[in-house]
Amino acid sequence: MALLQSVLCQVLSWKGICLVLNVVATGLVAVAAVWTLKLLVRHAWYTHKLSCFNKPPTHSWLVGHLGQSKSVGIFNNGEEWSRRRRLLTPAFHFDILKNYVAKFNSSANTMHDKWCRLVAEGQTTLEMFDHITLMTLDSLLKCAFSYNSNCQESTSEYVSAIVKLSDLIIDRRQNILHHWDWFYWKTEQGKQFKQALSIVHRFTREVVQKRRALINQQRETEAQSNRTKTPQRKKDFVDIILLSEDEDGQGLSDEEIQAEANTFMFAGHDTTASAICWTLYNLARHSHYQEKCRQEVMDVTQEQDGHEIEWEDLSNLPFTTMCIRESLRLHSPVQAVTRRYTQDMALPEGRTVPQGAICLVSIYGTHHNPAVWTDPHEFNPLRFDPTNAQSRASHAFIPFSSGPRNCIGQKFALAELRVVVALTLLRFRLTPGTNPELGSSSGGVRRLPQLVLRAEGGLWLQLEPLNPPNVKEPLDE
Ligand code: HEM
Repeated sequence: MALLQSVLCQVLSWKGICLVLNVVATGLVAVAAVWTLKLLVRHAWYTHKLSCFNKPPTHSWLVGHLGQSKSVGIFNNGEEWSRRRRLLTPAFHFDILKNYVAKFNSSANTMHDKWCRLVAEGQTTLEMFDHITLMTLDSLLKCAFSYNSNCQESTSEYVSAIVKLSDLIIDRRQNILHHWDWFYWKTEQGKQFKQALSIVHRFTREVVQKRRALINQQRETEAQSNRTKTPQRKKDFVDIILLSEDEDGQGLSDEEIQAEANTFMFAGHDTTASAICWTLYNLARHSHYQEKCRQEVMDVTQEQDGHEIEWEDLSNLPFTTMCIRESLRLHSPVQAVTRRYTQDMALPEGRTVPQGAICLVSIYGTHHNPAVWTDPHEFNPLRFDPTNAQSRASHAFIPFSSGPRNCIGQKFALAELRVVVALTLLRFRLTPGTNPELGSSSGGVRRLPQLVLRAEGGLWLQLEPLNPPNVKEPLDE
């Protein structure tokens, strides 16, 4: 007892407190020093190993290439990813995509109706990203959840939350302190992020739970009435992944399905919007190509009163498709992807990328490589004429990345692109517009690489309606 008392007196005395603080501070400094040393050694090792490769100039010795890379990073555990990928793949089968074409038509029609109204009111020049992003969100919600958000006409809480999250992600990347979770969640932006995220999660949770209940109810009705089938709804994305099972008969849990639905929404809406915007921009700048595409679309649709693009029409738009591909080359929505090497990778000339290194594959660089593409900055759809494409390396054109982790939604995206571009050309003549605030012409738009490729100051096009608005709503189901 006496011993304890004397120790306590020592510790609680001024001298004792100083001693304890001293020990704690020395410990912290030692930990920080070891940690810094470890980082420096690791950095030196990677610098040495990678010194045989060319690298771009750095902004400063301290931050290196930080902020120079814009990439889509979808990291998760390999086995987990491959199981999910297998379960998701049926949702992008041609038979399912066919059902989505009517939904693309319907969302494009809503947008074009709005454009006609705005033009009639005297607004002939519009910022494309604002309109087209809402349109792709609208159509994705119809395809993924059979949910009619009406987000092109009125504010939708869910859609606003998605747009907010995308803006906050870009903001966060630019502020180094915000990379630190503990700090970020205490900031105003962090709080807004959590709030928007909870809206998105609540929405998908409710959709998935309601759909599971509906499917279970349908099964029960079928079992009770001894019927093999009740009248079938057309299946959407949630249906397909709710019903899919792996080799062991295991499906995805509600939480996994929600996560996939969120990925689908985030990966699908602004990439496709960016691709549509830049295709329209490139066609606005090249009126002869625009006219050629319009003629092709008119030929294909004349038997249908020119009101709707159908699944079968998509393969009859070869020149329009070439223009879309050339636009994906020149203005790739995703500028780069990253990969972590799980093993040493030997390259020609005795060079090796060490295991653990993160490699950034520049899609922009690949698509503008002058060794592969003559006049790489020119918009020339004839590059994608099948006869010219044959002589090119298979990986010269990778807007959807390549390999097992490539874009699962690429056929979906290409179908939507063709429908929206075709309908737009049928109804409007496009010319480069002027940003009313900056007064600069769209003829000299600068790329703005954010989560996807956008345009500095927006992408403004002038619209001239070609026919009196006479758009029929196609049947969704
Ligand atoms: C023009 C439009 C699109 C472009 C340019 C694009 C581009 C890409 C790229 C480059 C990747 C690979 C990312 C990486 O390797 O790290 C990717 C992955 C992905 N994309 Fe797309 N995408 C588009 C549209 C879509 C659509 C419409 C959907 C869904 C409806 C979608 C869903 C996904 C998903 C889920 C992944 C992750 C695949 C995986 O990790 O297995 N994308 N996309």
